[in-house]
Amino acid sequence: QNVSDAQIQSQLDVLNKDFRKLNTDLSLVPSTFTSLVADAEINFCLANRDPNGTPTTGILRVQTSQASFSTNDGVKYASSGGSNAWPANQYLNIWVCNMSGGILGYAQFPGGAAATDGVVIGYTCFGTTGTVQAPFNKGRTATHEVGHWLNLRHIWGDTTCGSDLVSDTPTHNTANYGVPAYPHYSTCAGTPIEMTMNYMDYTDDACMYMFSIGQKSRMLATFASGGGRTS
Ligand code: ARG
Ligand code: ZN
Ligand code: CA
Repeated sequence: QNVSDAQIQSQLDVLNKDFRKLNTDLSLVPSTFTSLVADAEINFCLANRDPNGTPTTGILRVQTSQASFSTNDGVKYASSGGSNAWPANQYLNIWVCNMSGGILGYAQFPGGAAATDGVVIGYTCFGTTGTVQAPFNKGRTATHEVGHWLNLRHIWGDTTCGSDLVSDTPTHNTANYGVPAYPHYSTCAGTPIEMTMNYMDYTDDACMYMFSIGQKSRMLATFASGGGRTS
């Protein structure tokens, strides 16, 4: 929905803080988890060359007659009122649009089709200014979706007491929403305290402020030889 350059920059700023352990709300991490907080060492910038090598701001503004988009990837094709992906081996595509059905955003994991690779974020939860609406006004939808794009699973493993394939994150019963109280105990084996402040849970933006060391390893593995995003 035609967000301003300032709103786009505000989202870039959040990504560059969250993936570098520079977010100021880091101080809220309980002492139980401080040794597990990761600087994921991933930096983001707007593209300065388009796929043809021509200078660009990295921002495309596309007028559409589509009132909204769903998770069917329509936003990723000009033929359905969206905008075509740039090459997945050179860019992280971020589509910002009006999402239907209360969806905040969605992502494609490594290994999928190049034409649909990237993340989609609703314009009411993109960045920290302009059209954002509380409680999804701290840019964490993109942090969460880019986590998926770098192969992270939901912390509860998408099933009751499921696995996120990361050993240093506790086993969660299910998704947590809103503003969880600390400590929130899992009833899964070992009854660990859940890491509800992890970016890969479903809490409000103000309640998520860390990736774990294990999640960092999993993300960086996608860039390493044999990973899904080596290019
Ligand atoms: N529902 C989305 C997903 O599973 C995003 C959730 C983002 N949460 C947030 N607090 N911004 O990918
Ligand atoms: Zn998710
Ligand atoms: Ca885990």
